[in-house]
Amino acid sequence: MGFLVMQMGCWVLVVCVSFVQATVSIEGSVFIDGSVPIAKTDEDFICATLDWWPPEKCDYGTCSWGHASLLNLDLKNTVFLNAVKAFSPLKIRLGGTLQDKVVYETEDDPHPCVPFAKNSSIMFGFTQGCLPLSRWDELNSFFNESGALVVFGLNALRGKSIQSGTAVGPWDSTNAASLIRYTVKKGYKIYGWELGNELSGSGIGVGIAADQYASDTIALHDLVKEVYKELDVRPQIIAPGGFFDAGWFQQFLAKTVGSLDVITHHIYNLGPGSDEHVIDRILNPSVLESGGDVFRNLHNVIRTSPNSAAAWVGEAGGAYNSGRDGVTNAFVFSFWYLDQLGQASTHDTKTYCRQTLIGGNYGLLNTTTFIPNPDYYSALLWHRLMGKNVLSTSFNGNKTIRAYAHCAKLSKGVTLLLINIDGSTTLRAKVDFNGTLKHNHHKHRHHRSRGNLLRHRKQVSEAAREEYHLTPMDGNIRSRTVLLNGKALTVDSTGIIPSLQPVRVNSSELITVAPYSIVFVSMPNVSIPACM
Ligand SMILES: *[C@@H]1O[C@H](CO)[C@@H](O)[C@H](O)[C@H]1NC(C)=O
Ligand SMILES: *[C@@H]1O[C@H](CO)[C@@H](O)[C@H](O)[C@H]1NC(C)=O
Ligand SMILES: *[C@@H]1O[C@H](CO)[C@@H](O)[C@H](O)[C@H]1NC(C)=O
Ligand SMILES: *[C@@H]1O[C@H](CO)[C@@H](O)[C@H](O)[C@H]1NC(C)=O
Ligand SMILES: *[C@@H]1O[C@H](CO)[C@@H](O)[C@H](O)[C@H]1NC(C)=O
Ligand SMILES: *[C@@H]1O[C@H](CO)[C@@H](O)[C@H](O)[C@H]1NC(C)=O
Ligand SMILES: *[C@@H]1O[C@H](CO)[C@@H](O)[C@H](O)[C@H]1NC(C)=O
Repeated sequence: MGFLVMQMGCWVLVVCVSFVQATVSIEGSVFIDGSVPIAKTDEDFICATLDWWPPEKCDYGTCSWGHASLLNLDLKNTVFLNAVKAFSPLKIRLGGTLQDKVVYETEDDPHPCVPFAKNSSIMFGFTQGCLPLSRWDELNSFFNESGALVVFGLNALRGKSIQSGTAVGPWDSTNAASLIRYTVKKGYKIYGWELGNELSGSGIGVGIAADQYASDTIALHDLVKEVYKELDVRPQIIAPGGFFDAGWFQQFLAKTVGSLDVITHHIYNLGPGSDEHVIDRILNPSVLESGGDVFRNLHNVIRTSPNSAAAWVGEAGGAYNSGRDGVTNAFVFSFWYLDQLGQASTHDTKTYCRQTLIGGNYGLLNTTTFIPNPDYYSALLWHRLMGKNVLSTSFNGNKTIRAYAHCAKLSKGVTLLLINIDGSTTLRAKVDFNGTLKHNHHKHRHHRSRGNLLRHRKQVSEAAREEYHLTPMDGNIRSRTVLLNGKALTVDSTGIIPSLQPVRVNSSELITVAPYSIVFVSMPNVSIPACM
């Protein structure tokens, strides 16, 4: 134990000296209200997306999608399979801009099933594209093998005509109905059917009025209810997968009571990927902080509506138009990503889908090699350590320290996440709880007569915590390699995702958070009412 503590100490020292800038050490305290949880997430809060963009999708002169489309992704890649399996399960949302231009092949279809073709003079830059049923079979076989929970985004523009920026007329559900029936016939499990992509409010490219969207959603609900009537589990009905707009969302919720299970919204709060200041925004605590407004506002809209739908982030890539190379695929992006996960769960978001699992410059996995980027490991640690119950957590100091805590996933204890977005300050933090705190290990009944002091000493000396320190390779926050407790996380030649091992630290020590680092602190033996 003492040896492990020493090792930790040395490791922190090494990180510090590798910085050119002199670092200062500050002390601070984290306060966790242990009385009641303030929100609850889904058990499987972490979700990631797969998109439709073909290789010809380019932004600002670079084409970052490669073969990462639902139509051409290599589903036989071992790293890919292992990366999804590591979550058991990972929620995967299938969708994106071109979903509202997808037609589904049908078994009796006389037309050839042709893919998207580039045409910059039409909406979204591509023609209609077709999903072959044979590809749908392959995708489902991958989802089954990897244990993914699948949300499929349906084409909501089908049957509508576009009149000055608005798509009018009712949704034509015929083609969707045929895909859903085929899916049920084949026994493919779908977690949710989502209607449309970025068509809420004034929409991206084109919008749909809230009332019309509500009746289309009710039509989807009734269709799914009918097709699944013989089955025990009916998939969730999810919509609208667009940007939050208070008035539109309010009206939509009011008209979909009893038909909508999940209301989804998208997040790109860091501006376009072409902007060289994306990184400055990530390192600016007030930008991170204001990223919480949308979760709070949506939560208020839901609370005051008659609808009991759950809030999800259906797609969040931070920087739009495919992200930014060297930023949204690098260590620094975990500051934004984990802070988003923390704030979203604080405001009762149930699931958070990251754009993307693979594809663009914001993939959890590299588009060509499938090797995990740093955010993949951040997502995996969150998934394994952070439980459903969210705890009110505050840090009494500089906003460059971000603090979030949940009840632990695998014990009755607590997991704390500390993020230090400052490159020159080492934090040494103590953690305080209220509520009835005790250490939940050996009971020493025979020592009772010796009084409190001895029991207290015994507890302090035996209680340990487990820490996962994430830092960038060479102290470079633009690195695509992340170190866990000082060791690079790499996938070996057989494609195995590394196991994520903590260091044990004596609970009497302060928690050391190096400059530009992230620490998950697992405290399995802390016992508070909110987590019992
Ligand atoms: C692109 O779409 C426009 C509008 O529909 C059409 O006139 C044009 O022929 C298309 N271009 C190509 C190369 O297909
Ligand atoms: C895959 O499908 C088979 C057959 O339907 C089923 O028994 C199995 O549980 C599925 N596996 C997963 C991980 O869903
Ligand atoms: C994927 O990895 C390769 C090789 O390291 C690199 O050249 C490329 O930029 C990466 N792609 C993305 C989108 O990060
Ligand atoms: C927070 O830290 C930054 C960077 O070290 C510093 O510039 C700022 O003054 C600090 N703010 C407070 C309120 O301590
Ligand atoms: C814990 O602290 C919070 C915030 O200060 C307070 O509202 C709450 O009443 C406290 N609970 C207990 C049980 O002391
Ligand atoms: C933990 O630290 C306390 C106080 O320094 C010490 O008395 C105790 O022996 C340590 N426990 C372990 C297991 O190292
Ligand atoms: C928690 O308590 C159990 C039971 O006493 C013990 O085996 C375990 O090592 C403790 N875990 C930590 C991280 O201290």
